[in-house]
Amino acid sequence: MTTSPDLLVRADQIHRDLYLSPDVFALEQQRLFRRAWLFVGHDSQIPAAGDYISCVLAGQPVLMLRRDDAGVSVLHNRCAHKGAPVVSAASGKIARVLRCPYHGWTYGTDGALVGMPLKDGYEGTAFNHSEAARGLAPWGEVAVHRGFVFARAESDGRTFEQSMGELLEALDLIADRSPVGRLQIAGGVLRTEFRANWKVYLENINDSVHPVTTHASATLSARSVWGSPSEGTVPPLAMRQLLPFGSGYSFFEQMGGRILPGGHSVLGTRQSLHSSYTSLGDYGQALREAHGEARAEKVLDFSPQNVVFYPAMALKGAPQVMRVLRPLAHDRTVVEAWAFQPVGAPDSLLESALLYNRQVFSPLSLIAHDDLHLFERIQRSLGSGPNNWVSLHREARGAPPPGPRDVGGVDEALLRNQYVAWASLMAEHFPGSRGAQQ
Ligand code: FES
Ligand SMILES: [Fe+2]
Repeated sequence: MTTSPDLLVRADQIHRDLYLSPDVFALEQQRLFRRAWLFVGHDSQIPAAGDYISCVLAGQPVLMLRRDDAGVSVLHNRCAHKGAPVVSAASGKIARVLRCPYHGWTYGTDGALVGMPLKDGYEGTAFNHSEAARGLAPWGEVAVHRGFVFARAESDGRTFEQSMGELLEALDLIADRSPVGRLQIAGGVLRTEFRANWKVYLENINDSVHPVTTHASATLSARSVWGSPSEGTVPPLAMRQLLPFGSGYSFFEQMGGRILPGGHSVLGTRQSLHSSYTSLGDYGQALREAHGEARAEKVLDFSPQNVVFYPAMALKGAPQVMRVLRPLAHDRTVVEAWAFQPVGAPDSLLESALLYNRQVFSPLSLIAHDDLHLFERIQRSLGSGPNNWVSLHREARGAPPPGPRDVGGVDEALLRNQYVAWASLMAEHFPGSRGAQQ
């Protein structure tokens, strides 16, 4: 990369190197993904001591582990001896200690080194003062909110609560869809690898202009299958999930969005494609008894299109589904789609979430391939021609006021907000930067 990150982002357009440059991607791993609070996993994935999941954060293998004291550790998945990964599976359970498969060093659930073969060989050496003796290194700060585990490698001096702001209220509303206030991951994960930059996908989560054109064929097919039902007929759930994708621009404009500092956002503050299929009945009554009338109404009314946790996670409230972006390279990304069961709620809520993921986010879905096809083609066509810039001009009139604000549902301010955060997290000077250590 020949230019500094701040020259690649203008108020109303961004340079195509953000998507096309391996150097920009490498710098994102060193800066952006180490400085932001990243979603690691949900604690319902590791209910008992010794349960773990593994993933990659900022290009580094990481382990999320339930400790013996019931807390959650996020550790580098890198043996202190010679660097082997201590676990290889995506999830599992350790028997008492983590044992490195290479030479058998063992670690407690807090990462402390607790044993090794041929221990006598270390007596009289400087081992106890070495890095290796400290065991598995923590990846950074860890924060857990309503079971959602986040970690950040470099601090900017602000607390988790300050960094997340209104997102935590959104998370509370989604978690309170459970009468006991607890979500549980259920039904496995759908992973899709695609050959495009992670930011193309992230933008799309805030892009409510594209369904009219991108998903036209899917919604036309859904309409032709469903036909013209007689008056008063309620379409089956599969159709209730698909047909709203055929809504027009005015629906999406009226959807409403909220821009939050740090690149975060809520799209669909007033309505969304999901507004019409919240199930009530006994469930609504159970929520009112659990949370009180006013809170239950607020929980049921909150049906955003997407709550975006910049840079790599997005949640829906109804259905309760989550997408997590796992960037692999400048032109390669994995997206994971997860479903939640609100504990104590009818199984129909989980069934709706699982059906939504299959219909909309899976590789065999009716919707996702429209987007993924375009993402991969964008990655190939964006570099052609003399135009270096990607336009974010819609509704970009004058300098936006700082702080949270409401916008229309089709305002590209939602996207510009992502790039304000990108430039800030990519800046050379950062409050928590530890210089050349990385
Ligand atoms: S690399 Fe893990 S014990 Fe040697
Ligand atoms: Fe789409």
